[in-house]
Amino acid sequence: MPAGAAIKTEARGTASPLPAPRHVAIIMDGNGRWAQSHGLPRFEGHRRGAEAVRRTVAAAQELGIEALTLYSFSSENWSRPQKEIGELMGLLKRFIRSDLQELHAKNVRLRIIGEGHPTDSEVQRLLDEAQALTRDNTGVLLTVAFNYGSRNEIVRAAQELARQVAAGLLKPEDITPERFGETLDTAGLPPLDLMIRTSGEQRLSNFLLWQAAYAELVFLPVYWPDFDRSWLERALAEFGGRDRRFGGVAPGES
Ligand code: IPE
Ligand code: IPE
Ligand code: MG
Repeated sequence: MPAGAAIKTEARGTASPLPAPRHVAIIMDGNGRWAQSHGLPRFEGHRRGAEAVRRTVAAAQELGIEALTLYSFSSENWSRPQKEIGELMGLLKRFIRSDLQELHAKNVRLRIIGEGHPTDSEVQRLLDEAQALTRDNTGVLLTVAFNYGSRNEIVRAAQELARQVAAGLLKPEDITPERFGETLDTAGLPPLDLMIRTSGEQRLSNFLLWQAAYAELVFLPVYWPDFDRSWLERALAEFGGRDRRFGGVAPGES
């Protein structure tokens, strides 16, 4: 870069905007701080967060996003107080019971990634039921990461491939990035284009580490319960202004 040249941080100017992202993931963060800032218990933040999920799925559908992946509960979230975990599980059950039929009617295909619930058979049954009911739908692909941790997902994939090698079904040199990706929980999803995190935190917190290799990251100064279509549009506009290079050179440069 010539001395004095400004680093470009503005939108791409006259270059044509990027096409809309096919696959958007969201780290839905800030429920607790939203509640605190309103003088309410954390539970109320989570309850309002569930309403933001509803709005966001509808907005994604209207905006033509093909795949939406939401981080709902991390494998590290088990370290929270039992009371909060119980409330989160209660909300998840309520959400599936109240919204599954409507999601199905809207042609949404639901998929769960992560390790499910090892001890609450009712949560597990509802998750299984939601996937089974919507499996042939052709609308938005809504993936919910539940009891999900990316390192764990990668290790499980490595174990699965190791088992196949040990059984003589696969040669070590057949383990390519493509093959590895197909062994992850997200197999079959379009490549991740855009990763959004709300609440102002700027980290991935063990979410889609492999898949985010070339995703654009957008951190928004809004607590998740206040997220709505206009915030999603803001993230999409920011995405549209980025230069995605995938290791190459920017168009027009040589
Ligand atoms: C996100 O909000 C919800 C979950 C992680 C389940 P938080 O509960 O993390 O809210 P903050 O980060 O404490 O504000
Ligand atoms: C990430 O948020 C997990 C979800 C949004 C489900 P956390 O609130 O758990 O992340 P940290 O602890 O701030 O990194
Ligand atoms: Mg948080």
